[in-house]
Amino acid sequence: MTLGNNEKNMLRAMRTKQNHVWLLDELLEATQWKDQVHVAGSGMALSEEGLVEIIEKNDENISLGNEGKKALKNGLLEFRLWSWICQQSESNRTMKGLFDAGFERYEVGPGVGLLKSIGVSIEKGTFVFENKEDIESKISERTSFINQLLDKKMNLNDLDKEMFTHFKGRKNLINIEENVIREWKLTQLGIDLDDSYLEEVELVGEITPEFLQNEGWENAQYKEFDINADTPIPMGGRPHPMQSLIERIRSVFLEMGFSEIEGDYVQSAGWNMDALYIPQSHPARTMQDTFYLEEPEKIDVSEDMLDLWASVHENGHDTGSLGWGAKFDKEESKKGLLRTHTTVNTVKHISENPKEPCRVFGIGRVFRQETIDRTHLPEFHQIEGIIHEPNASLPMLISTLKTFYTKMGYPDVRVRPAYFPYTEPSVEVEVYWRGKWLELGGAGIFRPEVTEPLGSEWPVCAWGMGLERLAMLVLGLDDIRELYQPDLERLSRMPIL
Ligand code: PHE
Repeated sequence: MTLGNNEKNMLRAMRTKQNHVWLLDELLEATQWKDQVHVAGSGMALSEEGLVEIIEKNDENISLGNEGKKALKNGLLEFRLWSWICQQSESNRTMKGLFDAGFERYEVGPGVGLLKSIGVSIEKGTFVFENKEDIESKISERTSFINQLLDKKMNLNDLDKEMFTHFKGRKNLINIEENVIREWKLTQLGIDLDDSYLEEVELVGEITPEFLQNEGWENAQYKEFDINADTPIPMGGRPHPMQSLIERIRSVFLEMGFSEIEGDYVQSAGWNMDALYIPQSHPARTMQDTFYLEEPEKIDVSEDMLDLWASVHENGHDTGSLGWGAKFDKEESKKGLLRTHTTVNTVKHISENPKEPCRVFGIGRVFRQETIDRTHLPEFHQIEGIIHEPNASLPMLISTLKTFYTKMGYPDVRVRPAYFPYTEPSVEVEVYWRGKWLELGGAGIFRPEVTEPLGSEWPVCAWGMGLERLAMLVLGLDDIRELYQPDLERLSRMPIL
C-alpha cells in the first residue's frame, strides 16, 4: 500500500482520536488544510484502502421561496383573503366581490382551496364559516412558520413536520436544499496500521531542467498523476461557439486561397433577386418569405442595370434564353428589403469586378420570415462563395466543397441534383453525419441570365450554405435555438472549436 502525503496527513490526524467520528471542520483544523477538496479526496482514497469509513447522511435545509418572501411582506394568500372576508358584510362575501377587490385570477383559484383548508366554504357563491377563532389560529400558525424562515435557512429536523408538508405542497413558498453530510471514522485497519506507513516522503511534483541538472533525481520519489481525477472546470470567458465556428470557417477558406467579401443587410429586391434571375412572380419574393422595409421603402438601382434585367427577364436579352416572358416591373426591383441570402454579395462582387478572376467567400446574416422552431430561425447565417474564372466548372465546384468540408472534419460529402432559378446545373450539398446524409446548402454554376448582365464572360461556381446547420453538426445539437439562448452554463460546456 502506498499512501500519498495528503492521505498520510489525514490518517495521522485521525489516529490522534481513534474512535472519533470526524466532521469536515474538525478534519480541516486537524490537518491544517484550507480546502475541503483535500479532505474529500484523501478520505476517498483512504476508504478505498479500507482504512477509513465514510458515513454519509442526507440533510435538508429549508428556506423561503419567491412566493414565501412575498408572503412575508404581504401576508399569506389565505391571510389576505380572510382579512378581506372579515371586512365585508355577509352578502358581499362572494367570488365576484373577490375579483372586484383586485384579487387576481391566479390567486383566486388556489385561494378558494386554501380557504377551504382552514374552514371557510362556499355556499351558493358566498363564503361562509363557523369557527372564527379556529380559522385565525390556523392562519397564525402558518404565518409563524413562514416568519421563522425570515432571512435564514433552517434544518428540516428543526421544523414542524406537518407545516413543512403543507408548505411543500404549495408553489414556490419554500425551497428545499438537499445536502449530503459526510463524516469520517477510522476502521480497525486504520487504527492498527503500522506507523512506518505514515512517514512523509518528499514527492517531486514538478520536473524542471534545473532539477534534472542536479544530483539526486535518480533516487527521488515522484508524485503520481491521476489523469482521470476530477478537476474544477474553469469558468473563464470564451468566444461564443458561433463566433469560434465563424473564425474556423474563415481560416479554412483563407487557407484554400479565397478572399473575404462583405455586404449590407439592407438591399434592393433588384440585387437580392432580379440579378439572380428569380422571376418577379416567384413565391419566395412575397411577404411570406421576405422582410420588405418601410424605411427605406425604395432603393436606387442604376437605370442601366434595370434595363438589362428587364430585358433578360422578359426575353432573355443576348443570353440565348427566352427569359421568363412576363412583364418586368422596375419599381418592384427598387423595393428595400433585408437580404434573404448572401448570394447578393457575390453577385454584386462580380458586377463590380467583371473582368477579374476571383475566388471569394463571405459569412453573413440573412433574414427570412420563418416561424421559429427546432430547425428554423428568422435570422440566420450563410456561408457563401464563388469561383469566377475562365475554367470554372462543376467538378471544380464539387471538389472545392469537398475540400472545405473535409477540412472542417466531415470528409463524406455528396451532391444531388437540385433546382435554383439562378444556377444550371444546380446541386444540393449533403454531408454524412451519424449515419445520416444532412442537407447543408445549395450550389451550382450561375446561369448566363445572371452573369451576362453583370458583364462577366466566364462561368461562376457558386454556393450558399447554412451556418447554423453546420454549427448544429459541429456542436452536436438537435435544436437550432440552443445556439442563441444566453445559457452560460450550457455555452460553457459546448466543445471548444
Ligand atoms: N442562395 C441559395 C440559398 O439561399 C443557395 C445557393 C447559393 C444556391 C449559390 C446556388 C448557388 O439557399
